[in-house]
Amino acid sequence: MTPRTKIIGTGHSVPERILTNFDLEKMVDTTDQWIIERTGIHERHIKEPEQNNSDFCVEASRQALEEAGLGASELDMIILATVTGDMRFPSTSIFVQARLGAHNAVVFDIGAACSGFLYALSIADNMIATGKYTKILVIGSECMTHVTDWSDRNTCVLFGDGAGAAVVTKSDSEKGIIASYMGSDGRLAHLLYSSGGGTVSPASYESVDNRDHYLKMAGRDVFLHAVKAMGDSAQRALDEAGLTGNDIDLLIPHQANVRIMDATAKRIGIPREKVVINIDRYGNTSAASIPIALNEARRTGRLLPGMTCLMVVFGGGFTWASAIVKF
Ligand code: UT7
Repeated sequence: MTPRTKIIGTGHSVPERILTNFDLEKMVDTTDQWIIERTGIHERHIKEPEQNNSDFCVEASRQALEEAGLGASELDMIILATVTGDMRFPSTSIFVQARLGAHNAVVFDIGAACSGFLYALSIADNMIATGKYTKILVIGSECMTHVTDWSDRNTCVLFGDGAGAAVVTKSDSEKGIIASYMGSDGRLAHLLYSSGGGTVSPASYESVDNRDHYLKMAGRDVFLHAVKAMGDSAQRALDEAGLTGNDIDLLIPHQANVRIMDATAKRIGIPREKVVINIDRYGNTSAASIPIALNEARRTGRLLPGMTCLMVVFGGGFTWASAIVKF
């Protein structure tokens, strides 16, 4: 049997500043009640203007490394999933590497929107399987408020900022990633995107006037695709592992909408009490959503050694992914 990849440390970091639904009521035509009923969100953490994506990565990574009992110089790879990095280039992982002192690692970013962390985890799993890499830091981090249009009530109520990280290494037991699955469909890119600053819409007075630097989303369409893809992805991972929903101790779904999470859990027969939900406090943090929830579940004792955890995501692209991990 190919050796598995196990998670040996996790961490997360969010900005201190909290924006509540009541704050948003003063900014756009919305209500606390609408936001809670339609999404499950009560508040979200938003960064200060001078804070950068890499700040949250570094804090989350330090926690993960500390729990793993590793020094940053022992890492041989850092994979950072983000679509809201510090700069256009170099990659944000470059700044994280420098600040952590992970000078023996090769580092790179991947962009898969909300699905980024599980894509990165799967890449790390395959890198470990080659035997060439032994200790990999996987990060999902996002400054979604950097691309939030605060005048668009359809989207500005949904997102928050933060980062989560996990250190992975080879497993010498049954613990580790049991199954994983990834999918994409580029035909649906027009339903969720931000074009400003790319070659499609280079930064200009016109791109600013057009609000191209902000996120655009056809919410209803995304919702329908998310429900289907999250359910399908979860089922694919279960099939690969030869498990059913009954074998899953904890479901960590992407925190985009509590109704999508409920539909996903129902589809695979997992009761609400086994579903990690923290969207009420963080909103949708895109690539950071899974690792923030994972770290909270571990640190609060909800996810305990011996448990089998299913994680499932969906995001812009569209992209989707799932992973089953035995802790
Ligand atoms: O993480 C990546 C994946 N992202 C997602 O999975 C997000 C998926 N989409 C969603 O979660 C939901 O579609 C939303 C939460 C974005 C919207 O909920 P919905 O139930 O799909 O509402 P809707 O877009 O169909 O809009 C219903 C009504 C509209 O009014 P009319 O046209 O019926 O008069 C909207 O204008 O709700 C209105 N509306 C709002 N009302 C108060 C939209 N946003 C707001 C708001 N406050 N913030």
